[in-house]
Amino acid sequence: MALVTSKGAPYARVMGLGAAVPSRVVDNAEMCTYIDSSDEWIQQRTGIVERRWVSEGETVESLSLDAARQAIAHAGLTPSDIDAVIISTISHLVQTPSLAAIVAAKIGCTDAAAFDIAAACAGFCYGLAQAESLVRSGAATHVVVIGAETLSKLTDHHDRSTAFLFADAAGAAVVGPSETSAMSPVVWGSDGHQADVIQMTRTWSEAVDEGKPSQVAMAGQQVFRWATGFIADATSRILEASGLAPDELDLFVPHQANNRITDAMLRHLKLPETVTVARSIKKYGNTSAASIPLALVELIESGEAKSGDTCLMIGFGAGLVYAGQVITVP
Ligand code: UT7
Repeated sequence: MALVTSKGAPYARVMGLGAAVPSRVVDNAEMCTYIDSSDEWIQQRTGIVERRWVSEGETVESLSLDAARQAIAHAGLTPSDIDAVIISTISHLVQTPSLAAIVAAKIGCTDAAAFDIAAACAGFCYGLAQAESLVRSGAATHVVVIGAETLSKLTDHHDRSTAFLFADAAGAAVVGPSETSAMSPVVWGSDGHQADVIQMTRTWSEAVDEGKPSQVAMAGQQVFRWATGFIADATSRILEASGLAPDELDLFVPHQANNRITDAMLRHLKLPETVTVARSIKKYGNTSAASIPLALVELIESGEAKSGDTCLMIGFGAGLVYAGQVITVP
């Protein structure tokens, strides 16, 4: 007797999207009470005008729940239709159980497979790649992918090299079966030789032993050079792998790390002016794993993106890791 194997859908697609941000706005004027900087410097060097930080009652879990519920409703599904939940986060400060298991239960995704991944600012695109594979292999039919971070809890608010950049949000997508192609092959990779350019300052046990917090530290210029060189080139490879010509693209949603990085990528990619470029960093800062779905939802809500549009995405960050694909907007 031959062993039974799973059989999945011919293609996968993003069926719904959602995003959630905390209510507290931290503008550059407030930021400059924590660090020696100026509104002008922050805007010129990054494009950031304000960001959101969690306050009383808001957590990485509450933001994840909010974004996921929106994505499931947008997909026209109910929680019982979901059979896998993947969350990319570094902000869930308990190693086990996973945030995904808790969120799946609270949403009402009964008996869904659930697990967390840690791929920093590339996490949403890593999750989408996994979801696409699960749907096409038959291991799952509808997968919720969430990118969620509360980096305000993991950042030294007085560190001039990180405090003004990192912020809090969650974004989510539902991936499900499709009869037509709607997600291009993922282009992804890592370079652990550069592990030290964005890293936590100490392990959790060192934090306990030393009585000091573990926080994100970054060699900004090194990351900037990698992003404007290697990552700009990787973004070209994503477009090439998708089989689309630049003028067939409607949207470009890079990880919202710095407007100057986005500008450098645009110079490298030579995209036509008809392509709408996400710039949600202005209002939300760098929200890591949440930044791509948050930026895409913002474009949909403002009417700049519409159902059926083709969208090029690239996430990159600590690891170093990167991932991206082209999707059709639900
Ligand atoms: O999401 C993960 C991926 N992360 C990224 O992609 C981040 C990549 N890196 C960056 O976006 C940029 O490196 C930063 C925005 C973090 C920093 O911008 P920069 O243009 O690389 O600044 P810098 O470190 O080269 O510093 C330039 C100048 C220096 O002054 P002098 O030496 O030229 O007089 C710094 O002392 O700016 C000064 N500076 C600041 N001034 C005001 C550095 N930080 C600040 C600050 N406010 N916060």
